[in-house]
Amino acid sequence: MGEKNRYWRLTRRPIGDDYASALDLVEEETPDLVDGDVLIRNTYLSLDAGTRMWMTAREDSYSPPTPLGCPVIGMVLGEVIASRHPDFREGDLVRAYGQWSDFSVSRPDETYVERVSRRLDDVRQHLAVFGPNGWTGYLGVAEYGAAKAGDTFVVSAASGVTGALAGQVAARLGCRVIGITGSAEKAAWITEDWGFDAAVNRQDGDVAEQLRTLCPDGIDLYFDNVGGEILDAALENMALFGRVAICGLLTSYGEEGPIPGPYKFDQVLMKRLNFTGFFSPDFYHRGPDVNRRLRPWYEAGDLRMTFDVTDGLENTLTAYSRLLSGAKIGKSLVRLGNAND
Ligand SMILES: NC(=O)c1ccc[n+]([C@@H]2O[C@H](COP(=O)([O-])OP(=O)(O)OC[C@H]3O[C@@H](n4cnc5c(N)ncnc54)[C@H](OP(=O)(O)O)[C@@H]3O)[C@@H](O)[C@H]2O)c1
Repeated sequence: MGEKNRYWRLTRRPIGDDYASALDLVEEETPDLVDGDVLIRNTYLSLDAGTRMWMTAREDSYSPPTPLGCPVIGMVLGEVIASRHPDFREGDLVRAYGQWSDFSVSRPDETYVERVSRRLDDVRQHLAVFGPNGWTGYLGVAEYGAAKAGDTFVVSAASGVTGALAGQVAARLGCRVIGITGSAEKAAWITEDWGFDAAVNRQDGDVAEQLRTLCPDGIDLYFDNVGGEILDAALENMALFGRVAICGLLTSYGEEGPIPGPYKFDQVLMKRLNFTGFFSPDFYHRGPDVNRRLRPWYEAGDLRMTFDVTDGLENTLTAYSRLLSGAKIGKSLVRLGNAND
C-alpha cells in the first residue's frame, strides 16, 4: 500500500507567467518500490529558476523538457522512509532530484541522490550554501570565471541565492563586488547584510549608466544570471580582456521561439572578452570538495544565505512566482508539513 501523495503535474506548456493554468495539484498513491528505488518524504522543495525552462517544449536546453502529464522535477531535501537501494537506509536525510510533491520516488543509480548530515546548524543550507547554488557560485567565480584579487566583479540577480553566493565568494577572493538587483530594499540588503561593495538598482534608471559610474575602469568579471538587456548593459562596460561567466539567462526561460542574442555582442571582439558557460550537474560530484572550501567562510559568518520560505505544497506556485518576479530575497523554499525545524 503506497503513501497518499500530492504532486504538481505539468498539464500543458505555460505561456509567460501563467503557471496556474499549466500545472495541476493531483493526488495519487506512491507506486510500489522496485529494486533500486528510494522513497523520500520531502521536507523542503528547492525552487529554482531553471525549472521554468523545463516546462517549455524547447529541445535545445541543457535538460530535456518535462513531458506533459508528468510531475515537475526539482531538488528536494527529505528523509528516506523506505529503500530498495543498498546504499540508502530508512531515516537517512538526503538531498535529491525528486518531485514537487509530498513524497519523491528516486533512483540513486540513475539520478542525483546524496545523503547529507543532520548536524549542520541549519539543514536548509543543504539547499543553499552547501548545495548546487553554492557550488555554482563558488566554481562559477573561482574556476570558470577565474576571479582574482583586485578584480572588479559584477553579478546580476544579486539578491537571489546563486547571485548572492557568487558575490560573497568573489568578495572572499579579494574582488570589488557590485550586485545588480531589483529594488532599493534589496540593494541595501546586499551591501549591508552580505557585504557587497556597491549595488545597482535595475528599476532605478539606466543600468549601463549606473555600471559606468561604479566601474570607471571596466568590469573584469561579469557573472550573468539573467541575459537580455542587463547582459548588454554589462557588455558595454567590460574591461579589456574581461571575462563573462554565463550562469543563467533567466529572462528568456519562458520563451519558446528564437531568443535574440546580446545586441552588444561586438564587444566580445572589441574588448577581447572570454565567455564561459557552466551547468551545475557537471560538477555535483565535486560538491563535498567545494563544501570543504566554503565551510570556514560560513563558520566565520562570511558566507550567508537567508530563506524565503512558503508553507504548504499547495502554495508552491505562489512561491515560484515570487522567485521569478524577484519579490523575495535569498533562497526560495517550500516547507512541507512534516519539516520539524
Ligand atoms: N548554471 C547553473 O548550473 C545554474 C545553477 C543554479 C542557478 N542558475 C541560474 O541562476 C539564476 C538565478 O536562479 P536561482 O534559482 O538562484 O533564483 P534566484 O536568483 O534566487 O531568484 C531569481 C532572481 O532573479 C532576479 N530577477 C527576476 N526577474 C528579473 C528580471 N526580469 N531581470 C533581472 N533579474 C530578475 C531577482 O533578483 P534581483 O531582484 O536581485 O535582481 C530574483 O530574485 C538563473 O538564471 C538560474 O538558471 C544556474
